[in-house]
Amino acid sequence: MKKVILSREELHKGTLILVNERHGITCDAPGELTNVDADIQLERQTAVLLEELMREIGGWSSIVPVSGWRSRAEQQSIWDSSLRENGPEYTRTYVALPGHSEHQTGLAIDLGLRQEHIDFICPAFPDTGVCGQFGKRAADYGFILRYPAGKEKITGIGCEPWHFRYVGIPHARIMTENNLTLEEYTDYIKQFDSPLHPYCIRVGGRAVYVSYIAANSAQTVVEVNETAPYYISGNNVDGFVLTQWRNFGSDLPNTDRCNTAGKAVVGSANYRYAGKRKV
Ligand code: DAL
Ligand code: ZN
Repeated sequence: MKKVILSREELHKGTLILVNERHGITCDAPGELTNVDADIQLERQTAVLLEELMREIGGWSSIVPVSGWRSRAEQQSIWDSSLRENGPEYTRTYVALPGHSEHQTGLAIDLGLRQEHIDFICPAFPDTGVCGQFGKRAADYGFILRYPAGKEKITGIGCEPWHFRYVGIPHARIMTENNLTLEEYTDYIKQFDSPLHPYCIRVGGRAVYVSYIAANSAQTVVEVNETAPYYISGNNVDGFVLTQWRNFGSDLPNTDRCNTAGKAVVGSANYRYAGKRKV
């Protein structure tokens, strides 16, 4: 096992950071940015996965990127002009407060149906045709519909069918299959509070284990199995999410349980599985 030491700053970095009215961005310099088109940039991995998804569905024939990474200054300017043009209610519903927009992370993309007039704040993105196909395939490429209808009180933002957020493949699958917003997932995953009893999901023939580690005041030490790929993200609130990929069957007492069981303690290894359970 390898010990990974995480600083306090790392709590605010990674693909699972929760950014909303209550939890702002602590720095305005996201990871490496790359161009999606001449004017729009995204965090590199987000751009790569978006491109792969678009290639699979032939997306760019019908969909345009409307807004990607924004600096704080740009978010402020969108906020100010929307206040002037649309008033406070509309602005609070569809524009995040400067310093609190996911667009400042480079992990969020607004997409619009390719048509003559495209509204910059609320672009059309129907749930039919190629846009509908995008929505159906999004989770398999690590994206969630961040502001769904019916969850406005939880997200603090109106329904935005055009705004997708990259969180990573296992997490997007878990959230989409269980109808969880990022706010809800950030809380939900806390019950899997040790790498010894993770949430388990099968992705592309591999077992993926997800667990939560509460942050300590100064440094947090996480033990990982360095023989398997892993990824650690801060949640921007109070802890870290550890994602570990395993070869299927390598250390699962009963691999079938991974897909079908609810939360249960299985075998002496004390793994807790929660494949397709309703949460
Ligand atoms: N439209 C989303 C909420 C933003 O401004 O970040
Ligand atoms: Zn957006």
